[in-house]
Amino acid sequence: MTVSIRQIHPGFVGEASGLDLARPLAATDRAALQTAIDELAVLVFRDQRLDDERQLAFTRHFGEIEHGAGGHIAKPEQSRLDPGMIDVSNLDQDGRPLARDDRRRMFNLGNRLWHSDSSYRVVPAKYSLLSARTVARRGGNTEFADMRAAYDGLDAATQADIDELVCEHSLLHSRGALGFTELSAEERAMFRPVRQRLVRRHPATGRKSLFLSAHAGAIIGWPVPEARAFLRDLTEHATAPPFVHVHEWRPFDLVMWDNRQTMHRVRRFDETEPRDMRRTTIAGDAPTAPQAPG
Ligand code: OGA
Ligand code: MN
Repeated sequence: MTVSIRQIHPGFVGEASGLDLARPLAATDRAALQTAIDELAVLVFRDQRLDDERQLAFTRHFGEIEHGAGGHIAKPEQSRLDPGMIDVSNLDQDGRPLARDDRRRMFNLGNRLWHSDSSYRVVPAKYSLLSARTVARRGGNTEFADMRAAYDGLDAATQADIDELVCEHSLLHSRGALGFTELSAEERAMFRPVRQRLVRRHPATGRKSLFLSAHAGAIIGWPVPEARAFLRDLTEHATAPPFVHVHEWRPFDLVMWDNRQTMHRVRRFDETEPRDMRRTTIAGDAPTAPQAPG
């Protein structure tokens, strides 16, 4: 069977059907998915009963797996999942919901803010693939915003003002915005800021997009308050309803998105119940900007 893709939002997001992702992927289907993710930036696959191994195998069709080191406060030995799998659930190692004031849960609350995955890394992520194993009964939607449409929607003068700007991104900034500031010296060193261009051009389509994220906390050469005020304005513009698609999870959905062209966030849900979401991530190809010396 060959894949077919139906666009489900006027600007982006395709729903793919006709594929069982647990089975080997034909070269023609792989190529069709590559074109679709380039153009639509988010792909939804329903009813995909993947285990971790099969999720990793499907993910590898799109590049090298990004590993999670340096992106979390949880220690590797606290991990519920194998290396290569990013645990986006609210669960501890025994599969029980984390306590309300558990540090790991509070850190994960950063996913409620609009972001692009791993924009705090020198080489930010290319694709993320999120598999829903257990969904929240109420709430817990994931929202996606199209950063190409957001860029296109800016006036020409603003586009010219921002085309060459470089921002600093750090987990210290996104967590600080929520008041999560109790970090060890080691964690602070791990989360030191990296530089990212504010406007990116997609290598396949040539479309420009805004590279925003909750991790962005400074613009090189700008006073910090001015940069933060402006980044807030841009984020407000970029996440306005016309640019947003809301994904309502069903069990065994898999959603794949291009972090170079979109932002996403999760909405509030009842965290006393399990929500088991597992992510695999494809690493980006290169830094978007030269890094600070030293
Ligand atoms: C992610 C993420 C949101 C969610 O996996 O990168 O931000 O819905 N997840 O859990
Ligand atoms: Mn994310």
